Amino acid sequence: MDNLTKQDITDFLNDDGKNDYLFKLADNIRHDNVGDEVHLRGLIEFSNICKRRCKYCGLRCENKNLERYRITPQDIVQTAKNAVLSGYKTIVLQSGEDDYFSTDVMCDIIKQIKKLDTALTLSIGEKTFEEYKAFKKAGADRYLIRIETTDKELYKTMHPNMDFDNRLRCLEDIKKLGYETGTGCLVGLPNQTIESLADDILFFKELGADMVGIGPFIPHPDTPLKDCPHGNFTLALKVMALTRILLKDINIPATTAMETLNPNGRIIALQSGANVVMPNVTSLEYRAKYEIYPNKICINESPDKCNKCIRAKIASIGRTVSEGRGSHKKIIK
Ligand code: SAM
Ligand code: SF4
Ligand code: FES
Repeated sequence: MDNLTKQDITDFLNDDGKNDYLFKLADNIRHDNVGDEVHLRGLIEFSNICKRRCKYCGLRCENKNLERYRITPQDIVQTAKNAVLSGYKTIVLQSGEDDYFSTDVMCDIIKQIKKLDTALTLSIGEKTFEEYKAFKKAGADRYLIRIETTDKELYKTMHPNMDFDNRLRCLEDIKKLGYETGTGCLVGLPNQTIESLADDILFFKELGADMVGIGPFIPHPDTPLKDCPHGNFTLALKVMALTRILLKDINIPATTAMETLNPNGRIIALQSGANVVMPNVTSLEYRAKYEIYPNKICINESPDKCNKCIRAKIASIGRTVSEGRGSHKKIIK
């Protein structure tokens, strides 16, 4: 299983008869390479203001039906403090591409959060090499930026005024600068092929990703894709399981979008290759407004409630919550 070809991957993706085998294999590979601990990452969704127009996303600037917010730097740091106090060992700062958060403003937030005892991940979109370098120098440890799809034509139709090559450049810069590098894709975009999903998985391997997040596409009513069907939960799970089979020791989250489509989605994902969960630690007042897609889970729950809820779910399947930072340790075999 070390050298699955594109044909092998497409065969698995096309054939639902081998799903149980695939999920069990991914679960065993997860167990053997990263163990039974689950790493929790406290997610702060600090601004829903975005200058981009990704066709699938409710935060796109052309959506005028969304009430916009940005959390002040002071409150972002306070939210991080609260999360660290309640046991999180990694903070993830995520937002739309909001130019209010200039390099200086971001670096200040990063430095303050790094005074707490925590790893720090950024997920704030496409930046220049110099900006990524400044964030790294300020103390950021990891960066997440999904390639979304490796099908260049599909990428172009989904991302007006954006450039696939620039997305790639971002990932290469992030790697070069020594960040733990996270990427991933959407599953179920209109006109996406099984072959292109196989290419996505091979791309994660070629990039040498440290983290890969895979989520089903969920249509948002205020976007151009409002009438498209949502992605298939099982197919997204299969893409995730195959990613585990190929990239053995990386960190793979059980994504929120999976749980939005299936009430037990994150637990199923944790039993099919995933080893990370990213509970929302944003204050209740902002949660519903970070509406990248509808019916997002946890929008009426407090950070404390989510923390307890996810810990109980993890314990219920005999797994433990890690006390460490859960950095990607490459296992040389
Ligand atoms: N703006 C940053 C970026 O795009 O990288 C970070 C925030 S963005 C909301 C985080 C992720 O949300 C994207 O990478 C995309 O895959 C996912 N997303 C956006 N709209 C979605 C939808 N309708 N269904 C599922 N996932 C979606
Ligand atoms: Fe903005 Fe990210 Fe949504 Fe694209 S996916 S519109 S960059 S928040
Ligand atoms: Fe938020 Fe379960 S993780 S309520």
